[in-house]
Amino acid sequence: IADIKSDIDHELVSKEQIESKIEEVAARVSKDYQGKSLLLVAVLKGAVNTLTAFSQALSIPVEMDFMSLSSYGLGTTSTGTITIRQDLSTDITGRDVLIVEDIVDSGNTLKWLVGDLKRRGAASVEVFALLEKPSRREVEVDVKYRGYDIPDEFVVGFGLDFGEKYRNLDSIAVLKPEVYQGEQV
Ligand code: PRP
Ligand code: MN
Ligand code: MG
Repeated sequence: IADIKSDIDHELVSKEQIESKIEEVAARVSKDYQGKSLLLVAVLKGAVNTLTAFSQALSIPVEMDFMSLSSYGLGTTSTGTITIRQDLSTDITGRDVLIVEDIVDSGNTLKWLVGDLKRRGAASVEVFALLEKPSRREVEVDVKYRGYDIPDEFVVGFGLDFGEKYRNLDSIAVLKPEVYQGEQV
């Protein structure tokens, strides 16, 4: 049986680096939202690992909700069209919302989501993104809580998938070229 690690070409962000960055951001957020009623909105599916680690590192009690959005389909290229696969179950009118994302690539998903949550009447909408690919940015998005900048390589792990797989890897990595071969865009 092939081990998930045997498909990795090289690691970009280690498990330890992810943990320490998440702890650092969680300390800031706990301070910034002290005394407020914070709602974390995680963008499924990719943000699920980040949400879990991040929410447990917070020292304040928060609410969580989920929105499932897709811009990538099964391939490695963004389609640019955002599809809501599943909506929030919370009325966010007047709420302080913090969007939790695994990665900002073109910025299309986040730009659309920030606009959507503001239109619904949120009191404030901020963003925590664990990863960003600055070289791929197409639209401007204000990410208040930032993690790591990474180069323009197709990465998997800690929530990020290739063809829905590898989300369960505990670090951020680039797969071997032969694994990406035969992808359907
Ligand atoms: C990925 C990633 C972000 C988005 C970033 O999600 O998790 O949500 O793409 O890309 P963008 O900045 O170019 O919009 P994807 O659409 O693959 O869905 P998933 O989270 O279910 O994997
Ligand atoms: Mn996503
Ligand atoms: Mg994806």
